[in-house]
Amino acid sequence: MQVGVLASGGGSNLQAMIDKHLPIVAVIADRPCGALEIAQRAGIATELIERDDFGATFDRVEYTHRVVDALERHGVELVAMAGFGTILEKPVHDAFGGRIVNTHPALLPAFRGWHAVRDALEFGVKVTGVTVHIATLEVDAGPILAQEAVPVLPGDTEETLHERIKVVERRLYPEVIEQLVKGR
Ligand code: GAR
Repeated sequence: MQVGVLASGGGSNLQAMIDKHLPIVAVIADRPCGALEIAQRAGIATELIERDDFGATFDRVEYTHRVVDALERHGVELVAMAGFGTILEKPVHDAFGGRIVNTHPALLPAFRGWHAVRDALEFGVKVTGVTVHIATLEVDAGPILAQEAVPVLPGDTEETLHERIKVVERRLYPEVIEQLVKGR
C-alpha cells in the first residue's frame, strides 16, 4: 500500500515514518517547509501545492482537487496527514474515504482544532496526549485508531508540552501506519 504524506511543518513525523521504512511515494505540502526538505533528502518525490490565499476568498474545493490530482498521479493508496495546515474538502474523501489518517496532538474528542496543545494547557488538564484517527469531512472527528496519554508537567509551555507529545507521536503514528500498510 503506497503512502502519500501531507505536511506543512518541520516534518519530524515524516522523518519518523521514513526511519520506519514505510512505503512513502510522495510528500505534498501547502507551503515551503522542513518536511519538503526532509523528503528531498530521502529521495522521495515532493509536490509543493502552494496555498496563496489564507482569506475568505480561498477556493478550498479547487485546492482540494489539486491535492487529489497529485496524490493520484503518484499512485497513493493511503494518505497520512502529518501537521497539514489546510483543511481539505469533500473531493479528497470521495477519492480516498476511509484511507486518510491523521495524528492529532490531544486526546480527541477533547481539544479539536489547530491549537490543541495551547488549548489543553490553558484549560489546565493534567493529562493530554496523542490521537491517531481516520480523517473524515468533519475535522478531528473520525474513528480513533490509537491513543496514548502524555502528562502535563508543572512549568510546561506550549513548546515543551508539544515536544513531549511529539516524542510519543513519532513512535505511535508510524506504528499505526505500518499496521494499515500490512492490511491489518
Ligand atoms: C504534530 O504534532 C501533529 O500532531 C500536529 O502538527 C505537528 C506536526 O509536526 N498536527 C495538528 O495539530 C493537526 N491538527 P511535524 O511537522 O514535526 O511532524
